[in-house]
Amino acid sequence: MHNHDDSRISIELSDESATLALAQRLAAQLKPGMVIYLHGDLGAGKTTLVRGILNALGYGGRVKSPTYTLVEPYQAGGLDLRHFDLYRMNDEEEWEAAGFRDEFNGRNIFFIEWPEKALGLIPEADVAIDFEILPQGRRASMRSNTKLGQACLTRL
Ligand SMILES: Nc1ncnc2c1ncn2[C@@H]1O[C@H](COP(=O)(O)OP(=O)(O)O)[C@@H](O)[C@H]1O
Ligand SMILES: [Mg+2]
Repeated sequence: MHNHDDSRISIELSDESATLALAQRLAAQLKPGMVIYLHGDLGAGKTTLVRGILNALGYGGRVKSPTYTLVEPYQAGGLDLRHFDLYRMNDEEEWEAAGFRDEFNGRNIFFIEWPEKALGLIPEADVAIDFEILPQGRRASMRSNTKLGQACLTRL
């Protein structure tokens, strides 16, 4: 692991199990209200990370990509979590019509794939993770934008 400072961490994930190991460590640092942006191309490992986090929190069900529903709600480890995939979201009207605004109640924890589709509609990220596809494996670059996010990365 390469630790530049408290607010930026870059880690190479040589295979899926490394992604799941990172997920396990992140799961231990989640706090209610936390917003985590997940950037990266299709297949970069965003959903894999969310699946790993939910499993680490004890969720035993299937974690499917919310490609068409845009959001999937979960309860695990005493936390309320929302997994968004906004790749197919069209416009602000769709966001409002779905009632997504009400989800941001300060208690739910958010994992948001393709947050760039809803900038201005979603809160700032506490932690933003960028997945890069390497010839072998992935690189995850994490940065924090808030005190909450910084505490999360510092304790990772
Ligand atoms: N560190 C890794 N190295 C290689 N393959 C990985 C790694 N992490 C995840 N994968 C694989 O890459 C794919 C990622 O898919 P997915 O998580 O659905 O991507 P995304 O949600 O970013 O589109 C899965 O097939 C998964 O097994
Ligand atoms: Mg995905």
